[in-house]
Amino acid sequence: MSLAQWTKVDAYFNGLLAPSDPDLDAALEHSAASGLPPHQVAPNQGKLLQLLARIQGARTVLEIGTLGGYSTIWLARALPEDGRLISLEADPECAEVARANVARAGLGNVVEIRTGPALDSLPRLAEEGVGPFDVVFIDADKPNNPGYLEWALRLTRPGSLIIGDNVVRDGAVADSESTDPKVRGVRRFTELIAEEPRLTATAIQTVGEKGYDGFALALVTG
Ligand SMILES: C[S@@+](CC[C@H](N)C(=O)[O-])C[C@H]1O[C@@H](n2cnc3c(N)ncnc32)[C@H](O)[C@@H]1O
Repeated sequence: MSLAQWTKVDAYFNGLLAPSDPDLDAALEHSAASGLPPHQVAPNQGKLLQLLARIQGARTVLEIGTLGGYSTIWLARALPEDGRLISLEADPECAEVARANVARAGLGNVVEIRTGPALDSLPRLAEEGVGPFDVVFIDADKPNNPGYLEWALRLTRPGSLIIGDNVVRDGAVADSESTDPKVRGVRRFTELIAEEPRLTATAIQTVGEKGYDGFALALVTG
């Protein structure tokens, strides 16, 4: 099995089940033309996020790590007209590109993108009394995942879903000796989830056009 094979299978499923459209295409094109790295979720992963938000009956979503707003668009499309999605992005240029992409997709009234390090923005959300969020999607700098989990717990309620992206890291997550800060971040994140009595969770390995990685899914139970 190879990346070429996984990409071919992704293309097959995406064509049938997660087809693109002019707004998603434009978001990817504008992001690439603005020099953003292609670190967005794959189309079938975006659709998975959207389905999870719909299954949740989500009205509010918190995203940590916006990039060009590609996953933001998939998630925001799961929300009702009076729904709200807040996305946190450290890089002002990414945030600007994402705002334009979200507006083009007709989601400017649902989505708010806040610029700055997420660990600065999250306490402000709590101070403002924003939330609880029905879904939290964590997809920013992995070394800070433990901190993001702590804030996700403060900003959710029993029944909320917390999703962590890129938790497999080409399999390195299983290496207890790893000194890579990203690997250590996702390992600590997973351990904290396991220790947390208010969460029940699993993690799934994935292959596809984005390579070998995976998601963690945690339901807030108490
Ligand atoms: C993997 S990309 C997000 C991809 C996006 N969720 C998607 O699928 O379309 C990670 C993003 O997190 C942002 N980021 C990195 N460190 C951050 C931090 N401390 N606070 C907020 N955002 C951060 C990066 O600038 C980058 O845009």
